[in-house]
Amino acid sequence: MRGGVIVGVSCTAVTGTVFVPAPQRPAGGTAYKEPSFHSSTLSVLAALDAPEAASRYTRRPDLKTSLLEWLVCPACKHELRCTPDEQRATQSGSEVEVLEGRLTCNGCEATYPILRGIPRMAPRILLTEQKRTANAFGYEWQHFDSVQDTHERQFLEWIDPLQPAAFKGKVALDAGCGMGRHTYVTSGYGATALIGIDLSEAVEAAYRNTSHLPNAHIVQADINRLPFRSPFDLIYSVGVLHHLPDPAQGFASLTGHLREGGRIAAWVYGAEGNFLVARILTPIRETLTSRLPLKALHALSWIPAAIAYPFLKTVFAALNRRPNLQRRVAAVPYLEYLCYLSDFGLNQLHSIVFDHLAPSISFYLTRRDVEGWLTRTGLVQGAVHWHKRYSWRLQGKRGQVNPGETTEAEKPLAAARS
Ligand SMILES: C[S@@+](CC[C@H](N)C(=O)[O-])C[C@H]1O[C@@H](n2cnc3c(N)ncnc32)[C@H](O)[C@@H]1O
Repeated sequence: MRGGVIVGVSCTAVTGTVFVPAPQRPAGGTAYKEPSFHSSTLSVLAALDAPEAASRYTRRPDLKTSLLEWLVCPACKHELRCTPDEQRATQSGSEVEVLEGRLTCNGCEATYPILRGIPRMAPRILLTEQKRTANAFGYEWQHFDSVQDTHERQFLEWIDPLQPAAFKGKVALDAGCGMGRHTYVTSGYGATALIGIDLSEAVEAAYRNTSHLPNAHIVQADINRLPFRSPFDLIYSVGVLHHLPDPAQGFASLTGHLREGGRIAAWVYGAEGNFLVARILTPIRETLTSRLPLKALHALSWIPAAIAYPFLKTVFAALNRRPNLQRRVAAVPYLEYLCYLSDFGLNQLHSIVFDHLAPSISFYLTRRDVEGWLTRTGLVQGAVHWHKRYSWRLQGKRGQVNPGETTEAEKPLAAARS
């Protein structure tokens, strides 16, 4: 608490709170620069749908309050004061969480509502394609919202070589958290705090999945306009940056929020190995499926899922069990990915089909693209791996290279830099 006004989202005490009706200003403020665009098709501005007024771990009694230490106005980076309208005690009973209220910037007086426990700090104006993409993901993650056993294994593959031990005692950001499956998973790795942010209404599902975890926080925010100081020891972003109008700008925004010595891990779609997707799926997605009503697409996505499912469970499951046989048919496109999908249930397959058909923005990035991100952001110990022959896993560290720390994977990058 500062000066009798609660600053932040979750508060340890509420007595003495001053209710300050602040003048309403657009959340964007004036300091916000619209992102530059990666695609010439992105041109029209549209308003983001306003949100409708709709332990596993050791408890740290004052932990949720710590979000306040990191949260700032995304427009001018000044501190925020919190004015609660409705609050409740957390499950531990040792602190109070603000369910409804507002955050007001001490600098520019912009206000950000807190609705259903989530600070809403995303820009209200987005490009049409970005808005459509956010709406599609908002729909997707509120319909496919259950955390499953397979998610942790998948996640660790995506952030490899980052290991669970790296989270211990750290402050981490899940950039583009969707329904919060990875915020949920990583909250068990001993992080001091995990902050999941997402542009879309997927935050509703993320909050449902994680609000009971004392070290997890969810904020609705834009990667390009983060409402934080730069506190992060770790940032991961799985399957997100390729859905931004300018993925390189998104990556740079994230790395700008790393502490000295902090690490970032990201997974994105690759251009290499995705020839069929680029030639067949992308035109269908861009001209048809991303424009369909989401309910209709949800229903239609059952068709490819139901057709693929028996093949995955027979042919590709068999190949998955026999690496020798797999090597003999190595030329089959997407072999590794299809073998990997053979483990999935029909519902998961349905969500994957929807996920590929719904977004208006999906870029397929080359190795050169992602290596460029690492060099341009000045990260050290950068490494790029071709994951399952259709995507890129990349990671890097902010700071000085320690002698002997250059990895094999980093050598080509080091050479490119010199
Ligand atoms: C494919 S989903 C991945 C979600 C999550 N990382 C996971 O793997 O479950 C991509 C997510 O990125 C979010 N997203 C897209 N653009 C964003 C932005 N500019 N800022 C924050 N999140 C964004 C979408 O709303 C969506 O939930």
